[in-house]
Amino acid sequence: MFANTLSGRFLWLVVIFVMVAEVLIFGPSVARYRADYLEARLERAQIASLALLASDGSIAGELAAELLDNAGVFNVVLRRDEIRELVLASPLPDPVDASYDLRDATLLGLTRDALQEMGRAEPRIIRVIGNPVQRGGLLIEITLDTAQLQRELWEYGARILALSLAISLFTALLLYLSVRMFVVAPMSRVIRSMSDYAEAPQDATRIITPKSNIAELREAEEALQKMQKDLTGLLRQKERLAQLGGSVARISHDLRNMLTTASMLADRMEMSEDPSVKRAAPKLVGSLSRAINLCESTLAFGKAEEPPPRLERLRLAPLIEDVVESEKLASNGEITFVTDVSPTLHLRADGEQLFRVLDNLVRNARQALEAARNPGVIELTAAEAVIEGQSGVLIRIGDSGPGLPPKAREHLFEAFQGGVRKGGVGLGLAIAAELVRGHGGRLELVRSDSEGTEFRIWLPESA
Ligand SMILES: Nc1ncnc2c1ncn2[C@@H]1O[C@H](COP(=O)(O)OP(=O)(O)OP(=O)(O)O)[C@@H](O)[C@H]1O
Ligand SMILES: [Mg+2]
Repeated sequence: MFANTLSGRFLWLVVIFVMVAEVLIFGPSVARYRADYLEARLERAQIASLALLASDGSIAGELAAELLDNAGVFNVVLRRDEIRELVLASPLPDPVDASYDLRDATLLGLTRDALQEMGRAEPRIIRVIGNPVQRGGLLIEITLDTAQLQRELWEYGARILALSLAISLFTALLLYLSVRMFVVAPMSRVIRSMSDYAEAPQDATRIITPKSNIAELREAEEALQKMQKDLTGLLRQKERLAQLGGSVARISHDLRNMLTTASMLADRMEMSEDPSVKRAAPKLVGSLSRAINLCESTLAFGKAEEPPPRLERLRLAPLIEDVVESEKLASNGEITFVTDVSPTLHLRADGEQLFRVLDNLVRNARQALEAARNPGVIELTAAEAVIEGQSGVLIRIGDSGPGLPPKAREHLFEAFQGGVRKGGVGLGLAIAAELVRGHGGRLELVRSDSEGTEFRIWLPESA
């Protein structure tokens, strides 16, 4: 709304202020106009009566009436000394309604009388008393009809109002244009630049260039520019660090898993018949565990953020076989792996990411079983399914392990929070859930008790 803009407000305020000022001028102006009008009448009446006096009272009644008519009054009383003299008189159409003495009138009184006069519906007969001009006597008193006075007061008032309106509108327009030019336009530029910048704060070309030649606005522009420069710099730095942190965390996580497998294999080398291999084995295990430690402390520093999946149509059975193979290698041989996946089952997914999801889940199951020190079963099944009207593939990963510890269950899928396993960081489930979400799917815990644990992965077809 225009009225709510800075220039709109200014326009209204100026019109209102100028009108207030004009109204304050209006009262005294009409008062002055009325007083001048009445004084002119007194003067004309005095001249008429002087004409009569000069003729020594010999003027005929007809001429007296003409003199009065000329002066626009009914009666004139001119007191030249202590004796009251009625000089000219004609019959009054109505009785005298009010008397006004101009000799001791104040501005306030005159203003009030003038406004009352204007407000009267009907003209009337009034008596006016004043001082004669040029010491022509002690007092002059006239009686007159206010019809003409009223008319002239209204005309004069209307002229003043029209003039004040014109002046106020013109002043308002000038002020409005200057406010627009010197305040609103430069401010809009700053605001535009702010929202422009907010859309892409990394884009350095959107940083404002101070242009205003008004000191205050220039200061604001310069402050804004500095702030935007600092922010853009910080954002770039943050983005770089986030990217770096993300990739380091991802690399460390998976590298750590590979190293763990390698370390287990190295353990077996200690049983080798070859004495040189047997001698080297502890050193190899030591270096590998240092490398694993390094990965783990790096992991503790950052949370991984995954890139969007590269979806392709692939067969699930071989992928599951790969996962099982690699976990079998790492296992102590007391775990039975059972898979039930149709060799023809296809799905759209990022093969590498899906491998990591399944590997994380199967490894968790294996580690849980190994920690419980009892032989167990890890089961992987997959089938097509329809959930909530959407078709897709449902993969289940179950084990006969001890179930999730309470801390892991409380912070399920939260990075760095749920890990209670020695040597674990608590990232595996969080990464797996994030990767599945990236596919438009869901990773859920179906069951976890002393009988075992089961997770399921739902991957909708549309993904
Ligand atoms: N199948 C399971 N049975 C029992 N406990 C489990 C199972 N899967 C996960 N957990 C528990 O949940 C915790 C969190 O698992 P998550 O994979 O997120 O972290 P982690 O295995 O400790 O570390 P990381 O996988 O990052 O090396 C584990 O520490 C483990 O205690
Ligand atoms: Mg894990």
